[in-house]
Amino acid sequence: MKTIGVLTSGGDAPGMNAAIRAVVRTAITLGMNVKGIRSGYSGLIHDDVIDLDARSVSDIISRGGTMLYTARSKSFMTEEGMMTAVETCKKHGIEGVVVIGGDGSFRGARDLSVRGIPCVGVPGTIDNDIASTEYTIGFDTAMNTAVEMIDKIRDTAQSHHRCSVIEVMGRHAGYIALQVGIATGATAILVPELTVDLESVVKKIIAVEKTGKKHFIIVVAEGVGGVDKIAAYIQEKTGIDSRATVLGHVQRGGNPTVRDRVRATQMGSAAVHLLYNGVGNRVVAYKKGEIVDFDIYEALNMTKSFDEGMLEVAHETAI
Ligand code: F6P
Repeated sequence: MKTIGVLTSGGDAPGMNAAIRAVVRTAITLGMNVKGIRSGYSGLIHDDVIDLDARSVSDIISRGGTMLYTARSKSFMTEEGMMTAVETCKKHGIEGVVVIGGDGSFRGARDLSVRGIPCVGVPGTIDNDIASTEYTIGFDTAMNTAVEMIDKIRDTAQSHHRCSVIEVMGRHAGYIALQVGIATGATAILVPELTVDLESVVKKIIAVEKTGKKHFIIVVAEGVGGVDKIAAYIQEKTGIDSRATVLGHVQRGGNPTVRDRVRATQMGSAAVHLLYNGVGNRVVAYKKGEIVDFDIYEALNMTKSFDEGMLEVAHETAI
């Protein structure tokens, strides 16, 4: 391949810029040209394509967000939209595309691949909810941001003897909630993968209160939601003053951690090597300490199980 494209799609994640940088510089090192496709697949529909060189990606390794912008494109999902995307690739001489994003973005990569433009997916989402990989770019930074915020909330909860019910991101997944809950010593962690039992949460708070504990952190994944109602319920049943906080998009921004920068660089580089060797319709993944890759169809059919053992550890230590 002489020319490849790179795009970011779906929700942005800290470390996407580091991945773009790795894609651009690896491709140039291997003698290829790189085009940046802006605002995800929508850039292929609206012909928003720019030339990228080694200097275009200077000073972005440390920055959150994505210099290529991102979007969730509805028009790409039609046959007409996909054919327009293929035409845009041909017009710019783009022979393969690196797609940085989540499962939805990988489905787009599969659709472009079957229409003659080989694509390689790089997992980028703060949710860490892609089955084919143990790690997605942005997860570590988002968790560290959430922990920093909850540590601050703990100070005030502790001062007032309150219960703080805190929503972290994860519309369909509780992976952020699980690890953030452990790292902040939460009394309870509520995730969409498991049945929510508020009565047990109340029982636990009452039991722990009897041992002298006076402030409580309850971490709730976005997919469970209803933190206001949960806080009101806890207050009603325990008599403990309770407050709800939704952390929201603060978790999606900020400078990526070392882990995110390094994984993003490794995965971006691996994706380019695949295209360089003429291999498309693949996704890059992190498994057992190594960067590997899978067929996109295979990857999209994989399922990820929730680590209930880790939740048990959280439960046993939050007393
Ligand atoms: O997929 C990442 C994520 O941040 C989810 O945790 C969240 O539910 C969703 O994106 C929110 O998306 P947006 O802010 O783009 O509507």
